[in-house]
Amino acid sequence: MLGVLVALLTCLLMLHFLRQHWSQKSYPPGPLRLPIIGSFWRIGVKVHKDTNIKLAKKYGNIYVLWLGPMPYVVLSGYEAVKEGLFNHSDAFAARLLTPFLKTVTKGQGIIFSNGHTWKQQRKFGVTTMRKLGIGKKGMEHQIQEEAHQLVEIFARAKGQPFDPAMPIFNSISNVICAVVFGHRFPVEDKEFIKLMGDVYGLLTFLCSISQYLYELLPEIMKHLPGPHRKAIAGAEAVLSLAREEIEKHKEHHGAHEPQDFIDFYLSQMKKSENDPNSTYNEENLAHCIGDLFIAGTETSALTLQWALLLLANHPDIQEKVHNEIDDVLGSSQEFHYQDQKKLPYTKAVIHEIMRFQYILLPGGPRQSTKDVNMRGFFIPKGAIIIADLRSVLLDPTHWETPEEFNPNHFLDEDGNFVEREAFLPFGAGARVCLGEQLARVEIFIFFANLLRAFTFLLPEGVKELNTDPIVRFTLAPRPYKLCAVPRNSSS
Ligand code: HEM
Ligand SMILES: *[C@@H]1O[C@H](CO)[C@@H](O)[C@H](O)[C@H]1NC(C)=O
Ligand SMILES: *[C@@H]1O[C@H](CO)[C@@H](O)[C@H](O)[C@H]1NC(C)=O
Repeated sequence: MLGVLVALLTCLLMLHFLRQHWSQKSYPPGPLRLPIIGSFWRIGVKVHKDTNIKLAKKYGNIYVLWLGPMPYVVLSGYEAVKEGLFNHSDAFAARLLTPFLKTVTKGQGIIFSNGHTWKQQRKFGVTTMRKLGIGKKGMEHQIQEEAHQLVEIFARAKGQPFDPAMPIFNSISNVICAVVFGHRFPVEDKEFIKLMGDVYGLLTFLCSISQYLYELLPEIMKHLPGPHRKAIAGAEAVLSLAREEIEKHKEHHGAHEPQDFIDFYLSQMKKSENDPNSTYNEENLAHCIGDLFIAGTETSALTLQWALLLLANHPDIQEKVHNEIDDVLGSSQEFHYQDQKKLPYTKAVIHEIMRFQYILLPGGPRQSTKDVNMRGFFIPKGAIIIADLRSVLLDPTHWETPEEFNPNHFLDEDGNFVEREAFLPFGAGARVCLGEQLARVEIFIFFANLLRAFTFLLPEGVKELNTDPIVRFTLAPRPYKLCAVPRNSSS
């Protein structure tokens, strides 16, 4: 009797592996997949910034990890990412909604919506960003204003070592406030401090161990105390502030030309009142607002933090930026985003900062909406798709010195700026960053204002600031201090 049972079990196990072997034949390669638990064990407990790139070296530019029965497909390097994002743009356009994201976002807004809702909200978002005049005089004026405030705050340190992280985060957040609400907040404002805390708390929760626990056991975690409670409450607080602002805008709606994101949205709601397919409503608006804070604050703020850190570490490069800015912009008060064209070296440095210390680790997870054949491999409907943008920015077949901070990546022999096809920090295809233009404008304007006003130096006794990032959803610099020494030549 026992003999029969053992034989039967052996047969079943063999069948399991054979079936997996047959069906796995055309899946992309990856680490050994075990029954039930899959192959995620291979990553270990701690994700390292180069984990993905190492796996690609071993398994190729398209590989799969198994989250139990769920394939997690990573596209790595320029060729594979480009093919995935451009040639399979539609099949890979859906966002993966985990239990936590479902709880918080309800599938509304832009970043975490899919299908009809996403198409409508996104289309509106794209047109509205354009109408708000980003890159033209309108919004640029407010960004300049914010940059001047930041210069003043830096000046208060009087050249002594200070940590620029919070002032930068506040200024960048105020740019989003200007875009969405039509006004900024004084940094001491209680409501603003609370909003910043909630946005920041939510961002640090993403990709933490606590989030993984929630995704694995949502039904249990819901009833337990822990960081997820705070993250959910924080998200709810951001939404209720958004709702308050919407109410205030409704009171004055129609009294003037639309000036901010909420104004334009309320007009759109009116226009499509009688359209049964319209997804324009106040709840979607509140979620769109939350999305702009989530996508548009930490990203640009971290880029600027890395910028100052790298320039303090590379005084030779900083000096060249200073010289170019002095030559071209002089001490004249006004300059515009368009002036970037006259500053090829500065522009190259900004691009190189975004390439060399890219701030997103996995990019936004997607989910395949149909079976796809790509590079001879089979990717089933429902697979999680990761386009590893960081691997594109470090791709050794596209960059001369990928591991080195080298602005020459974006300059020709005569010092002219050159665009590079593998520069894809904003992604590509249907889900390409909605705030790309805003991000480019604000990073340039903040950067140029700060460098016109200060020389950034390492504090006394410090040889170099640490470039090894803190790994979360984003790659953030470790907290650091530097000195912003006023330059008198340009005042
Ligand atoms: C340095 C700054 C920034 C970087 C590197 C960046 C990068 C990205 C990337 C790679 C994506 C695509 C994610 C995917 O493929 O699924 C994305 C999406 C998005 N970004 Fe940005 N971003 C930046 C700044 C901003 C700003 C300032 C805003 C808004 C005002 C913004 C709004 C968005 C939105 C709404 C999406 C979602 C689009 C969608 O799902 O359809 N981003 N961003
Ligand atoms: C991807 O699309 C481009 C442009 O449409 C095309 O030239 C290229 O051959 C496609 N690549 C693959 C592998 O299908
Ligand atoms: C609404 O959507 C349905 C189904 O997608 C479509 O058949 C119909 O034409 C749409 N109506 C309007 C007014 O756009």
